[in-house]
Amino acid sequence: MDTIKIQLEDGDIPENWYNIASDFKTPMLPPLHPGTGEPVGPEALAPLFPMALIQQEVSQERWIEIPDEVRQVLAQWRPSPLYRARRLEKALDTPARIYYKWEGVSPSGSHKPNTAVAQAFYNREEGIKRITTETGAGQWGTALSYACQLFELECQVYMVRISFGQKPYRKAVIETYGGNVVPSPSELTEAGRKILADDPDSPGSLGIAISEAVEDAAMREDTHYALGSVLNHVLLHQTVIGLEAEKQLERAGESLPDVVVGCFGGGSNFAGFAFPFLRHKITGDQHAMRVVACEPASCPTLTKGEYRYDFGDAIGMTPLMPMHTLGHNFVPAKIHAGGLRYHGAAPLVSHALREGDIEARAYHQIECFDAGVEFARTEGIVPAPEANHVVKGAIDEALRCKESGESKCIAFNLCGHGHFDMAAYQAYFAGQLERHEFTDEMLRENMQALSELPTV
Ligand SMILES: Cc1ncc(COP(=O)(O)O)c(C=O)c1O
Repeated sequence: MDTIKIQLEDGDIPENWYNIASDFKTPMLPPLHPGTGEPVGPEALAPLFPMALIQQEVSQERWIEIPDEVRQVLAQWRPSPLYRARRLEKALDTPARIYYKWEGVSPSGSHKPNTAVAQAFYNREEGIKRITTETGAGQWGTALSYACQLFELECQVYMVRISFGQKPYRKAVIETYGGNVVPSPSELTEAGRKILADDPDSPGSLGIAISEAVEDAAMREDTHYALGSVLNHVLLHQTVIGLEAEKQLERAGESLPDVVVGCFGGGSNFAGFAFPFLRHKITGDQHAMRVVACEPASCPTLTKGEYRYDFGDAIGMTPLMPMHTLGHNFVPAKIHAGGLRYHGAAPLVSHALREGDIEARAYHQIECFDAGVEFARTEGIVPAPEANHVVKGAIDEALRCKESGESKCIAFNLCGHGHFDMAAYQAYFAGQLERHEFTDEMLRENMQALSELPTV
């Protein structure tokens, strides 16, 4: 019988996270204080995050130990399986060997609990009682609500209004885990009220929801803020995915993959899967390995955004981060991959792109749904709309192998299931999905608002 799943044991869950910042050839630029233009010190972040996470944010250590209590919770669903996509390979008639890491087996159905659990743990250790956050598609809000419940913390979620309407069952799951969720912009914060006064029908954005969650956390002593992507410590926690996959590929008799693919929103699932492989390219002899990030053409942060200092939120409450950005004033189109609609790219991924270590590609949503449906009909799993972008990227690579006759090893991260996203599939089958693209003109307009900010 041909092997389909490559499984590991509970004891194979990595004992350390991998920190790529220690391996870059040139150092990362620091975040800046928007008022002074000077690098921000750890103390500036202390009202929002526990010190252990702030230390991880700036760490230059290559390996950072995963606390036993965190590993024990991860064991509820980790190690996640690695699949050989034999049926997809056959349908594509490709000589490529395709593998995917399946993160949809987590309690909330995506990679997000990998960092939610770690963040809730460190906040509990520091005596925090309540955590606020934003969520786009609802995956992150669900994951944090679950993690907060395990560590006896209250959880307040600001969910992008358009997604709140599109995915009503996400609210029910967040509440089932004990969290509280409101559509953003909301009347609960100054930031939300300001946006609603200007545009009562605002669909919201991740940037706006972050402003609300940060403001809420800053107002209360017992409350911290948690982010589901972008920041260094979040990407760090996700590296369990790639570290496990590396071991699993070895068990499958492969050496390292020729092509590594991930979908890209803020950067956490892409980095979590790709960075452990990328370390062999930047510190070892795997120079030919290609690492590809796939993003929506309606939010083309890596392929069209400018590399510069920008705020992480819409209002301008966060430190300035060096990143590829479409401008913090970016209001995304109403595409269905809610988790990929963020204006900025993680500084670590932006840096890797600048260094030429990775590539990026943008796809329209309809071609991604085409790919997702082909995947469902061959492999049996219905991917999240975000994950459809990586499926499209991997299929493109496999078809390229078919043309060239090369039998490459393609590995990708199937970051979540689409069981709460069926309205998006309904719209796809009804021919109601739009082909939207973010244009150069839109970028020029957004960049005007950044002209006063320090440059890289
Ligand atoms: C299933 C899924 N994939 C990808 C993303 C994008 O986030 P990131 O780029 O941080 O992985 C999200 C975000 O909500 C998501 O829910």
